[in-house]
Amino acid sequence: MKSVLRLATVDPDEQSRNSIKSMLLGVDTVWLEAECSRYEFFMDVAQQTLPDIALINLDSNPQKALQLVAEIAASKINCVILVISTSQEGSLILQAMRNGAREFLNLPLQLEDFVASLDRLRVTVRGSTGEVGSRGGQIITIVGVGGGVGCTAIAVNSAATLAKNPQNTPVIIDLDLALGDADVWLDIIPEHSIRDIAENITRLDYGLLKRSLTRHDCGAYLLPRPVELEQDAIVRPDDLRRILALLKATFSHLFVDISKSFSRLDLAVMEVSDRILLVTQLDLSCLRNVIRTMQLLDQFPSIRGKVDIIVNRVGLDESDISLQKALEAIGQSVFWQIPNDYAVMIGCRNNGIPLPQFAPRSRVARSFSDMVDRFDVVDDAAAGEEVARKRSGLFGLFAGR
Ligand SMILES: Nc1ncnc2c1ncn2[C@@H]1O[C@H](COP(=O)(O)OP(=O)(O)OP(=O)(O)O)[C@@H](O)[C@H]1O
Ligand SMILES: [Mg+2]
Repeated sequence: MKSVLRLATVDPDEQSRNSIKSMLLGVDTVWLEAECSRYEFFMDVAQQTLPDIALINLDSNPQKALQLVAEIAASKINCVILVISTSQEGSLILQAMRNGAREFLNLPLQLEDFVASLDRLRVTVRGSTGEVGSRGGQIITIVGVGGGVGCTAIAVNSAATLAKNPQNTPVIIDLDLALGDADVWLDIIPEHSIRDIAENITRLDYGLLKRSLTRHDCGAYLLPRPVELEQDAIVRPDDLRRILALLKATFSHLFVDISKSFSRLDLAVMEVSDRILLVTQLDLSCLRNVIRTMQLLDQFPSIRGKVDIIVNRVGLDESDISLQKALEAIGQSVFWQIPNDYAVMIGCRNNGIPLPQFAPRSRVARSFSDMVDRFDVVDDAAAGEEVARKRSGLFGLFAGR
């Protein structure tokens, strides 16, 4: 799925502005970040919102509008300019392009023309900002191979660790819709939940999306699970993909704490994720489930290849299966190992204070710091211990420990 482009528009004519707005509502790869009715105010709006695209209607005052095009093109705002007009006059088109417009579209706007233009602009936007998604965030989904393996601890504390850098805006999405407890880890009593977004999906605006998130003091945001326990699915996979795409356009990292039922919703999230963290501990039932889970996920071309294994609570028990034996059984390298520190972790949860604030100097907090640094490394294939891809089964696990 394509990531969302953020657009700001200026058009003094209310009627044409509204018709553009309703067209934008139907295009879910574009997010209307701001609208403006005066050419002279648009520069400020663009500086504040830093859109990917500036959409400028020339018709109300072509001279002023062309001047604005030139100013934006010359400014430090890293956006591409799309101009629209009812005029087909060659000299106007030429001047707009000379002043820095990337595309010129005629009004009334045809949806296909608009979408085709967006696709061309997308190449420019992503090309000019480096790798794909450098402005958009990463979706990191946490999957557990058993109850209580540490998924929520990892989602919450990874987000809190990243939030130490003010340039990061991590969000935790509690998609364990029945029993999720991310709010407990952050000691938040949320006013809104994912239910509010799901119920308003057709008229979702940026304000509602932001209102549904609660910001914790550590700097991370939480999109909580619904308050009531419900049997019916409150959010459909398509809606969820749209929510994630919109959040991804604005926030730096989305940590999705999914259920452990491998539902359609869980798989839909994994499909659009950039990275999937499969959390295990070093015991037989967990390791057996790692193999079963990998076998399932391998069947989805849009999922396999994105799965990284995290071994949590290393050193929990002296009789742990050795990591080496576990690796041989799984047939895949381990992305990260998190040490066992029950006192610190349970203290974090019971006090609702994430690791960087609760025990910043603990070994486990340092492990999280080093781990999140690796999230931004794109190609991890070469990193970490490389072991034979062939899964050797579980029979050898206890031999030679
Ligand atoms: N590295 C660790 N060291 C010690 N204890 C840990 C560690 N990670 C998690 N824990 C503890 O394990 C317990 C379960 O963790 P958590 O709730 O994160 O697991 P989960 O996989 O989300 O569980 P659930 O299946 O209920 O969603 C918590 O009490 C937590 O404090
Ligand atoms: Mg959990």
